[in-house]
Amino acid sequence: ARLRAQRAASSKKTSAQKPAVREAVIAFASQTGTAQDIACAIASESKSHGIASKVLSLNELGFENVSAAKTSVIVLVASSTGDGDPPDNASAFFRQLQKAQSPEQLKGIQFTCLGLGDSNYTSFMHVPRTLCRKFRELGAECFHGCQEADEVEGLEEIAEDWVERLWAPLKNAVAGGTVHKVSPEQEKTDGKVSTQQAFSQATSASNAGVSLGPQSTDSLASISDLCISSDVDLQGVPACPECRVKLVWEEDSNAADVVLLREKSWPSQQEMEHRDPKGLYNAENPFLGKVLEVRRLTAGWSDKRVLHVEVDLTGSAVVYRPGDSMGVAPANDPCLVNDILGALGIDGARVFSVVPRQESSNQVLLPHLHWPCSVQHALASACDITSVPRKTLLRLLAEHCSDEIEKRKLLYLCSRSGRDAYRKVVVEGNSSVVQILRSCPSCKPPLDALLDILPPLAPRLYSISSSQLEKGDKAQFAFTVVTLQTPWGTKNGVATHWMDRLLSPALSAASNSGKPQAVLPVFLRSGGAFHVPDTLEKPWIMIGPGTGVTPFLGFLQERRARRQAGGEQSAPCWLFFGCRQPTEDFLYEDELKDFLEEKTLNRLEVAFSRHGSSKVYVQHRIKEFADEVFDMAITQAGYVFVCGDGASMAKDVHDCLLAILQSAGRLTGQEAVTKLAEMSKERRYVRDIWS
Ligand code: 2AM
Repeated sequence: ARLRAQRAASSKKTSAQKPAVREAVIAFASQTGTAQDIACAIASESKSHGIASKVLSLNELGFENVSAAKTSVIVLVASSTGDGDPPDNASAFFRQLQKAQSPEQLKGIQFTCLGLGDSNYTSFMHVPRTLCRKFRELGAECFHGCQEADEVEGLEEIAEDWVERLWAPLKNAVAGGTVHKVSPEQEKTDGKVSTQQAFSQATSASNAGVSLGPQSTDSLASISDLCISSDVDLQGVPACPECRVKLVWEEDSNAADVVLLREKSWPSQQEMEHRDPKGLYNAENPFLGKVLEVRRLTAGWSDKRVLHVEVDLTGSAVVYRPGDSMGVAPANDPCLVNDILGALGIDGARVFSVVPRQESSNQVLLPHLHWPCSVQHALASACDITSVPRKTLLRLLAEHCSDEIEKRKLLYLCSRSGRDAYRKVVVEGNSSVVQILRSCPSCKPPLDALLDILPPLAPRLYSISSSQLEKGDKAQFAFTVVTLQTPWGTKNGVATHWMDRLLSPALSAASNSGKPQAVLPVFLRSGGAFHVPDTLEKPWIMIGPGTGVTPFLGFLQERRARRQAGGEQSAPCWLFFGCRQPTEDFLYEDELKDFLEEKTLNRLEVAFSRHGSSKVYVQHRIKEFADEVFDMAITQAGYVFVCGDGASMAKDVHDCLLAILQSAGRLTGQEAVTKLAEMSKERRYVRDIWS
């Protein structure tokens, strides 16, 4: 409500007073926080260029405000989620934008766009490209070439280059100067720096005047390995981010009396039963679901730990469909929180509220902290302390190192010449703020600045593996407990380890299953196009190795219930599943074999990757059935569903389907691509993929 009021106030001001020098709006569409981080960094740096700006999500900005304003200067920083969907905080804006038709609707608006994405996904840049196209179609003018930053090629570097070139045109646009319109064609040649160019610039910078000691980046594993000589080139280091907040200590508050935990602000079970049911729960306001069952799906001896969970949704009135996901609001590992508290020398029980540093600012700052709160709570439940640190965070940490060597190492990682080292040590090394504080013991950043810069702790989503037609008020899902080996030690997945800590005590060694006394804060997230088709009369081909199989359990339960209810003819239904070995990680083996026996599932083909002498993956098994797959998917106009790892599996399966269209269907390469795109448009080739 506060944000809405501010928005209304600021939009009134724009239309009534039309100030000569305008404020730039940095608007983000961000699911995991990267686009938001970049938007905040642009806003904080804009000040040093004499440009006033504010940061809003696209939904907070509101399409109606943009189309009413006519004079705004907007910098869009946008990513896609899922298979090309807009992030939650941009979905309403995106819907309205897509509906808008009038070619004059955004006339007078000046914009530019930085798109973030991963070219492993077929819907690469769908959201940013649509934003740019629609803004242009509706009459807005592009004042600075739009840029696509690809994760595969170094998202942060490409984004940095673009931001460096943004300042002059942005200053000009905000001052109301003549805009040098950039057309999409020009963008391809000038506005936009190709990835290749960006890289050659980066490489030449890294070769110029840098003395890294005897080592090459190949020998770098962690910050401790960096040797920085005194004449190292530190050009291109961003300005130290300005802290926007002050913490007001509530010394009289007893930590136990105030709203210490986000959980305290959640509704009680009783309150929930009296609420308007639909769409009420989200990450900020989750439903507290009692855990009814937890079961380990992989062999006890395997290093792969996959847990199946059943949650009671009684009282929530939540309605879900197979294909939807369960959102979980996790908390950080208490040991990591203690590490930060130790490094900062702060008592975690102290309670604070947040006020803006600038008296005039009416922005609501750090709403995710739910203050007043304890330091412990802020670091445990509200802030992301494990993701790879962005350069602005490293810059802040550098500022607060008392040891000169540690400081220079961090500055070097933020500098232009330190790009390769940043990529190797920080990004590929999967570093975190905790790890950096450990390797730079002299670093003591002030808590206010740290809280201001740490991204919010994002909720995690897991495919639901049940159908309400069979399970009623219960929902099931499964997850792999993620543990990564990094050059500096093991790094645990935040939410999966949190759930493991919460649920595992109930697992009895004998039966591998149990009934924990635990509740999970959960909410529902729609699967979009990824759901059970209305008809059973067309064939289904489901492809889901590993935990990618989970939604298909829900699909099959739904199919069974509908078949039992009668009246529907059903076409063939196949599942391609992949795992390491039959006795290790054949997830839901019994359930799948039951579906097969009762003919809910007509074919179950499993690819074992570590069983025989060579690796067999789902795509190899699919190829064996090229003619049948072509017949079901194309001749009979059936459905193909793919779920699981998007970085390699989904791409390999996509290539395999293209190959089948060419071999079994005698299509050319281009015809095959068009055919799959058509199927995707008709929602007959649908994917739920993650990295
Ligand atoms: P691997 O770990 O033995 O390489 C579930 O994770 C299964 O998916 C595992 O058997 C895993 O095999 C397999 N897998 C790994 N990469 C894959 C890919 N690119 N395509 C299909 N399956 C893959």
